[in-house]
Amino acid sequence: MAKLKINTEKKLAKISEEIYGHFSEHLGRCIYEGIYVGEDSPIEQVNGMRKDVVDALKAIKVPVLRWPGGCFADEYHWKDGIGPKENRKTIVNTHWGGVVEDNSFGTHEYFELCRQLGCKTYVNGNLGSGTVREMSEWVEYMTFSGVSPMAGLRRQNGHEEPWKVDYFGVGNENWGCGGNMTPEYYANEYRRYQTYVRDYSQKPMQPLEHHTPSIRKICCGPNVDDYEWTKTVLDTCFCHSPKGSHGFMDGLSLHYYVHPEGWERKGSATEFDAGVWYKTLSKALYMEELIQKHSAIMDVYDPEKEIALVVDEWGTWYTVEPGTNPGFLYQQNTMRDALVAGITLNIFNKHADRVRMANLAQIVNVLQAVIFTEGDKMVKTPTYHIFDLYKHHQGAQLVDSQIETTQTGTKDYPVPNLTESASIGTDGRLHITVTNLSLDQPAAIDAFLDVSASAVTGEMVAGEMHAKNTFEDPSQVTVKAFDTIEITKQGLKFTVPACSAVHLAVEMA
Ligand code: AHR
Repeated sequence: MAKLKINTEKKLAKISEEIYGHFSEHLGRCIYEGIYVGEDSPIEQVNGMRKDVVDALKAIKVPVLRWPGGCFADEYHWKDGIGPKENRKTIVNTHWGGVVEDNSFGTHEYFELCRQLGCKTYVNGNLGSGTVREMSEWVEYMTFSGVSPMAGLRRQNGHEEPWKVDYFGVGNENWGCGGNMTPEYYANEYRRYQTYVRDYSQKPMQPLEHHTPSIRKICCGPNVDDYEWTKTVLDTCFCHSPKGSHGFMDGLSLHYYVHPEGWERKGSATEFDAGVWYKTLSKALYMEELIQKHSAIMDVYDPEKEIALVVDEWGTWYTVEPGTNPGFLYQQNTMRDALVAGITLNIFNKHADRVRMANLAQIVNVLQAVIFTEGDKMVKTPTYHIFDLYKHHQGAQLVDSQIETTQTGTKDYPVPNLTESASIGTDGRLHITVTNLSLDQPAAIDAFLDVSASAVTGEMVAGEMHAKNTFEDPSQVTVKAFDTIEITKQGLKFTVPACSAVHLAVEMA
């Protein structure tokens, strides 16, 4: 029996809600069709946003949504997407499939979507092919409440009040699709561009120490294990924040995708054997090392952890579904994706002191989506149900937990059988999430708690490794009750089924 020790007295960081964030790009059928169908669509919609999708996303409490890209962000010119729709420029989405876009989803529509979702906003600016002025004017357009050319333009387009931009990304993947820059070059560009991401929330004559900056600036961080990028960018861009300011940055991004067969071959989303199952999960576990190593570099510059590591793109990336546009990145989602999500979210929780936002790529119809749509039909993927299972960790207090594991997997890809994290939720209950990576061995767990449990409820996402949800069979994988939990003198006893993720909610006496 594996021992799980939870010390609720040892309170660690607060788990930021934004760790459970999502990403929506103008890519394939994510925005158009997946979220936005237009104000005249026969599909049930509110101001053009699909009601079924918005309702489903609200149920998992989407805390923040990143937009408009991705690689698209460094080619996006925001003025093309404002004003009367019939006058908006038609553009070619050169990066993703060369499709034509009518720009009917732009700045106003994005904020309307976030309003409907009740989530925070994360706008990614264009450093790669846009000007400093363009970026600066976008911020003015979105956030300035006074009289100015851009605020006036916003009002002319029907929005009197400014919106709240919670996070602003200054470029995306500038080591690649965002301009193929060297870290030295990007770092200097970052310093310049971010200067003009003005904080319009500051009142004139207000002493700096009484001011909390409202936009948090995200600097483009490394691709996977490019530790040199992290170091070089921090060397040039990190400075301590004087009171009332955030210095040059509030977060450094990290992008990491799991490609089972490597970047070139990627691999099928649905056809895989046990070996590829463990290989995929072992690659998901690599997130732990990446966070540790990038955090260690950040600690040198920023031991107080003023800036966050923002994993604003993560998830699985397979070969597209046969017969679909290769530029649309549409892939199926199975129990394997559910486990990748469960493992990764446990890792993020455990690093909540440094990882304060993460955005799964991507929210609808693209890569490791939580939702698929087809015409007026919608289906929730296994990954959706993991976000549902883990939602109680949002805003919770991470507490110390340790679990005994045994090695499973293959010779080339050995993995621990279990991962876990525990927190005290905003509802006052202890929330424990455990994943069992083994395909065939249930794991009996003896949990030792430093508090007495007066009641416990459980739920799980479980199934055969290939189990998936389709439009024909939408409920193969859902959240199911998990009620074989015994309250013992020291804590709890329960058995986590093979190939599953479990959530326990414990009332503490
Ligand atoms: O999420 C798909 C793409 O992956 C994004 O546009 C880009 O930032 C990354 O390479």
